[in-house]
Amino acid sequence: MISQRAAALAPSETLKISARAKELQREGKPVISLSAGEPDFKTPKYICDAAIKAINDGHHGYTPNTGTPELKEAICAKLKRDNGLDYKTNQIIVSNGAKQSVGFAMLAVLNKGDEVIIPAPYWVSYPAMAQLAEAESVTIRTSFENDFKLTPEQLEAAITPKTKLFVLCSPSNPTGSCYTKSELEAIADVLRKHPQILVISDEIYEYITFEGTHNSIAAIAPDLKDRVIVVNGFSKGFAMTGWRLGYLAATPEIVSAVDKLQSQETSAPSTISQKAGEAAYNGDLTEILTMREEFKKRRDFVVDALNAIPGVKCFRPNGAFYAFPDVSSYFGKKTPSGQTISGSTDLIMYLLDEAQIATVPGDAFGEPNGIRLSYATSMANLEEAMKRLKKALEVLI
Ligand SMILES: Cc1ncc(COP(=O)(O)O)c(C=O)c1O
Repeated sequence: MISQRAAALAPSETLKISARAKELQREGKPVISLSAGEPDFKTPKYICDAAIKAINDGHHGYTPNTGTPELKEAICAKLKRDNGLDYKTNQIIVSNGAKQSVGFAMLAVLNKGDEVIIPAPYWVSYPAMAQLAEAESVTIRTSFENDFKLTPEQLEAAITPKTKLFVLCSPSNPTGSCYTKSELEAIADVLRKHPQILVISDEIYEYITFEGTHNSIAAIAPDLKDRVIVVNGFSKGFAMTGWRLGYLAATPEIVSAVDKLQSQETSAPSTISQKAGEAAYNGDLTEILTMREEFKKRRDFVVDALNAIPGVKCFRPNGAFYAFPDVSSYFGKKTPSGQTISGSTDLIMYLLDEAQIATVPGDAFGEPNGIRLSYATSMANLEEAMKRLKKALEVLI
């Protein structure tokens, strides 16, 4: 009854964990979730007010499929202001979230059998989306020593005549790593030698960059700009995950192809959300900077607490709201009840059952030695979670 396409998709590993976390919570256990992929803040009031006004002013109908001209203008102005990028409104297509933009971008440029280079650890949806586009994912494992960033040598070695797309995510989910300007320049040097390769640059965590400014490869390598599909959105930086609003910026040709797909599959996102997005980009960014400062404090607390646990190694990520420690020194050890921890999935299940902290195994992101901890939760929760984590790891022998 079910299509081969749907049947072949792997179920989300994180669902199993959140189901178990909810079960424990129902049993009255004080589970602390460090598995969230969304900010724990509320959307700033001026953005909510713009949405309420849109409702009251009667903005209740469909908008053009690529988004309202006003929002697209606000996006072009933002790309210029924040990234030094010049785009015209016919190079922008607004979507129901960056996830949709990445998915449609892949469907728009990939043919059956094309290869997509995806550095691991990766955001779980990239390989699944490549699979839906009938392309082959070529995942490349990066190293803890290099803060889980792909080196130009690794990229070069992975390229074949079939390579069509390279997916770059900076700041990264799940590691929080950010590529520096010189690292992107070195990546661009490799891409210059292979003109058939397009790039999806997923910049959804742009506004959660702690030190220095965010770097977009489209700006670092202007000669490659037409080969880059910049994906961004409002979910993370403005705490707007539920508003479902994102976009991509690319050549008019790619935007037209995505426009066709989107017009048949979803149409434009909610008119109300688009009005909210316009207010977000045209408004004052003070509030999002306050959220960023809070994330930075939490990052420092969590990374220091992790590194103080014997056997845990964690680099200090420069963005997003995740820490991705290497916990492999615990693999092969036994729990007090005699079970062997054979890998990151076993470890996070043990942490959930014994310490009541929910995290995500690196296995889910293609990096078996790590686990992902989200610090999108209160400092009080983080303090308690780190105490519990230390205690639970200490008893493994
Ligand atoms: C790397 C990355 N890209 C894209 C998305 C999707 O964001 P949106 O809410 O805009 O669909 C997420 C959300 O978790 C993400 O982590």
